[in-house]
Amino acid sequence: MKTGSNRLKLAILISGGGTNLQAIIDRIDAGKLDAEIALVVSNNQDAYGLVRAQKHGISTAVVDYRKYGKKLLPEIDKSRLPSQFAEVIERQRIFQGLPAEEIWDRLARLVLAEQEVIELLDPLTPELICLAGFMRLISPYFIEQYNKEDRYGIMNIHPALLPAFPGSDGYGDTFAYGCRFGGITVHFVDEGEDTGPIIAQATYPIWPDDILDQVKKRGLKLEYALYSKCIQWMAQGDLLVEKSKDGRSSVRIQDPKYPQFIEELTKQAFTR
Ligand code: GRF
Repeated sequence: MKTGSNRLKLAILISGGGTNLQAIIDRIDAGKLDAEIALVVSNNQDAYGLVRAQKHGISTAVVDYRKYGKKLLPEIDKSRLPSQFAEVIERQRIFQGLPAEEIWDRLARLVLAEQEVIELLDPLTPELICLAGFMRLISPYFIEQYNKEDRYGIMNIHPALLPAFPGSDGYGDTFAYGCRFGGITVHFVDEGEDTGPIIAQATYPIWPDDILDQVKKRGLKLEYALYSKCIQWMAQGDLLVEKSKDGRSSVRIQDPKYPQFIEELTKQAFTR
């Protein structure tokens, strides 16, 4: 295990219960994850994840995105937007099929909130931003601060087998569709919603007598193990990003134990 400055410096963004955050904290404490958490940021001041962080002496901050909603901010002061805002609009893929003025408005409000988050993160120079149940969209403005030429700097855990069921209710959507298998995905974040390069996935069965809660429980167990493992692979320099001819990026995991890890993880999920 690495110590001190050799550890991957994380900032973790949350919105709720923070059980994934807890799993990361526990694996760091157990010496299984070469990382340190510089800051936990929540958009929701009541997120229990904040308490979890504080219990472990980790700094926390809240950025209330609602401050920038139409209700509390009817007019947007354009001078507060970044100079590259026009490019941000051009690159974004999170708001689609909406009138241009609506896209402008939504993106502007999102960027104003993100400026606050970036101000908090900047002095800490995090090496990886981990989204762990962060229920807000991420704009290209935020992404360009942390994704560099050939290095992605933002990771997300999604509770479905992407590209199936993107969006905010991966377990609910998988279950309601009648899938016989569900899955989870850890991926890097790009300009679309849940579209970035996949790092790793794991699957679980959905049995005929299951209710949604059982399905979620099975999936979350996988999330806790897989997310930490992906962060550890990043810390070890085991995630190689390759560009294919069509310009798409894909991730190659260089850890030779990767298939064995997935096999064992999946075996547990399939054991009744
Ligand atoms: C997880 O299912 C995660 O995949 C999704 O939101 C949930 C967050 O749970 N993005 P928690 O806050 O980590 O308990």
